Amino acid sequence: MRLILIAAAGLAATLGTAHAQSPVERGRYLVDTVMTCQNCHTPKGPTGDIAGKALSGGLKFDEPPFTVTAPNITQDSETGIGKWTDAELKSFMTTGVRPNGVPVVPLMPTGYYKILTPGDLDAIVAYLRTVGPIKNEVAAPVYRAPMQQEVFPGAEKPMSPADLNDKVKRGFYLATIAHCMECHTPMDKGRHLYDTRLGTGGQKFPGPWGESTARNITSHKTAGIGGWTDAEIKRAITHGVRRDGAALKPPMGYGYYAKMTDTDLDAVVAWLRTVPPLE
Ligand code: HEC
Ligand code: HEC
Repeated sequence: MRLILIAAAGLAATLGTAHAQSPVERGRYLVDTVMTCQNCHTPKGPTGDIAGKALSGGLKFDEPPFTVTAPNITQDSETGIGKWTDAELKSFMTTGVRPNGVPVVPLMPTGYYKILTPGDLDAIVAYLRTVGPIKNEVAAPVYRAPMQQEVFPGAEKPMSPADLNDKVKRGFYLATIAHCMECHTPMDKGRHLYDTRLGTGGQKFPGPWGESTARNITSHKTAGIGGWTDAEIKRAITHGVRRDGAALKPPMGYGYYAKMTDTDLDAVVAWLRTVPPLE
């Protein structure tokens, strides 16, 4: 018996080492899971993401100040970002300004990415380099107003990697790069009301699903999700199911968040519980 226990402990230790993520694996987890890049950058068919076309250009956004399409971010050198240097990519991800000096629309959530640790930013670039080239030219952006990055409060600078060991801080980090509050905070005159209405919902999202309205995800007991259990909140995030069992509509990327680790989901829930209760 004793021998078996020792063997099992040894195996667990080996697995622990084997599971240490490489930068490319970490980057894949961030890009394809937590940060839901594919929700915007992968073309959609009737059943969702078109297989084999990941990140080759996706959704079109037509709004009064702009008409833009999420570009091809595969390694194709003409229609993708194959020619961008690592430094250009990292600068773009955190400032929203392309190598040619043209800023993107704030709905590409770069205002949420300034918080990325240097290691995670490197990991994202390392993974994107492995996304094989697909030729697909998307329509050039049209801007009818000046574009400016809108930085999410608390995301002004990279988080210290040591802070990721604190559950609530880790939850804030993950919810930030997952840009939850971009959809869940109402806007006025093109700006989010982060200081006064954080997480209260209300933005409308029209699409092939009809229309959905972002819900109140503050810790308010009745108007928000303060009365939900951790399991109910995690199920909503990963399976798009409400507390009463009703299905939630897109565009929230439930299917991507579904692959988040349980530790990370628990951290997100821990942070959500700290969002001030508002009706
Ligand atoms: C909410 C939708 C959305 C999400 C999520 C999103 N993007 Fe974007 N992204 C866009 C749009 C739209 C543009 C183009 C904006 C414009 O033309 O002004 C863009 C532009 C870019 C560009 C510039 C490419 C070029 O050729 O100019 C890169 C690189 C990029 N995104 C990478 C990413 C990565 C990596 C992620 C995930 C970590 C991501 N995006 C998440 C919508 C999104
Ligand atoms: C692209 C926009 C978008 C993003 C990003 C987004 N959500 Fe949502 N979320 C929505 C919309 C819209 C709904 C409501 C859908 C419906 O009612 O059918 C929703 C519903 C929810 C619900 C269910 C609430 C209820 O009362 O039923 C929870 C919980 C939730 N989101 C949490 C999150 C968290 C946490 C994140 C980040 C990890 C996140 N959302 C990211 C748009 C978004």
